[in-house]
Amino acid sequence: MPANSLLLDPETRTKLWAQVTRAIEKYMQEVQTARVAPELDPEKIRALLVPFDFAHSRDPIETAEFMVRALWENQTHTPHPRYYGLFNPAPTAMGVAADALAAAFNPQLAAWSHSPLVIEIEQHLIRALGRRFGFSSTDGIFCSGGAEANHTALLTALTRAFPQFASQGVRAVKGQPVFYISAEGHHSFHKAARLCGLGTDAVREIPVDANLRMDMAVLAARIERDRQEGFAPFMIIATAGTTNSGVVDPIREAAEVARGENLWLHVDAAWGGAAILVDEIRPVLAGVERADSITFDAHKWLSVPMGAGIYLTPHLEILDSAFRVPAPYMPREAAGLDVVDPCLHSIQWSRRAIGLKVFLSLAVAGWEGYAAAIRNMISMGELLRDRLTAAGWSIINRTALPLVCFVDGKSPQGRSAGYLDQIALEVVRSGKAWISTTRIAGGIPVLRACITNYRTGPEDIHALVAALDAARGAAGS
Ligand SMILES: Cc1ncc(COP(=O)(O)O)c(C=O)c1O
Repeated sequence: MPANSLLLDPETRTKLWAQVTRAIEKYMQEVQTARVAPELDPEKIRALLVPFDFAHSRDPIETAEFMVRALWENQTHTPHPRYYGLFNPAPTAMGVAADALAAAFNPQLAAWSHSPLVIEIEQHLIRALGRRFGFSSTDGIFCSGGAEANHTALLTALTRAFPQFASQGVRAVKGQPVFYISAEGHHSFHKAARLCGLGTDAVREIPVDANLRMDMAVLAARIERDRQEGFAPFMIIATAGTTNSGVVDPIREAAEVARGENLWLHVDAAWGGAAILVDEIRPVLAGVERADSITFDAHKWLSVPMGAGIYLTPHLEILDSAFRVPAPYMPREAAGLDVVDPCLHSIQWSRRAIGLKVFLSLAVAGWEGYAAAIRNMISMGELLRDRLTAAGWSIINRTALPLVCFVDGKSPQGRSAGYLDQIALEVVRSGKAWISTTRIAGGIPVLRACITNYRTGPEDIHALVAALDAARGAAGS
């Protein structure tokens, strides 16, 4: 056993790194041979862990080997090309390498003086992404994911609307603050409403039109009614790529309403924001340049390992107003330099070097490399729509993005929730693909398949349609 069980000795470490990189490479080369989803047996997993009572030290090589085997067998393989799920991609190779470097160098992202390179890398990326979205100048912050970015948006909108909010909280506001989001918007805003002390009643869910986009007439009427009733509207959220069906709200119209009503416009482009990189589909985001803030998750369509949320804003002072809480123990060497300590501009304090994996991935792929990957996913989405239609499935949603909601046009029960749930379950149980069901437009059950993986090819689409057909037989019988 190595003398130092934390650092290990150089010989053991060298073996360990070789073993881990071999395991990573094998996973990248062979993940498509695995069942996409495991059989779910909590007892079996707990039994695997029983021997780990931590009462004695274990051999590092054997322990790492155990973990690699256990991971292969006990997770839904989101990097699998037939995982048609929840915006969890196959991670980029450079992203995996960057995360390993981030773990080893362990930069501290609270204070600029501790990690000047990585903090400047993040700011460089934020300015570059802001320019892509059409901002003339951009501030922003990397965060754990879309939920934290949306929470940040809520806090900055509250800070802008109610100047006493930062010190006195919502009790300083005359009237209950309320904000507006499509009924198809992401539920992280409901949690954020609780975390901000607003409560979920503050979330005004606006119904959608026939194309699942936020209904602008209802939005305007609801704001007017709320003002008459003494509420304090402060923010509109347009979703660019809804989680359910990949639909983009009319951002330009939302911007008009926001301007007319003096409300903050946030665009939740957690997934769909990457459309900005592709000429043919960029127009779906028209108006995004007028946003007061944007959520964009690099761990979704930029395919870096989780988590990598990004909050962007053209208001260069707002993060400072919302988050600056000085502390005497923080390093001071950078005082006087034209730099910002991230902990003064964000929810988190010490945190991981999130931007590194985005920087290395983007440096190697370039904008064009990403555009090509996204174009390929869009064409796989089109192929899936064609193949499903040919096999008698009916497509329910309309979007330029590769997310398909569908029902069974061939079966008399093809629109029933029970039948569709059973189809999804059969597909998942088969191990051949992973899809899910959801409810759109306030309750319509659909099957949902999203191409979120740059490795998904035509053969994977054919395999999904075949698995669905097989499930149809099982579900109907
Ligand atoms: C539109 C949208 N916003 C926000 C989120 C939350 O992102 P995260 O899971 O990274 O916190 C998601 C997640 O899928 C999403 O689809």
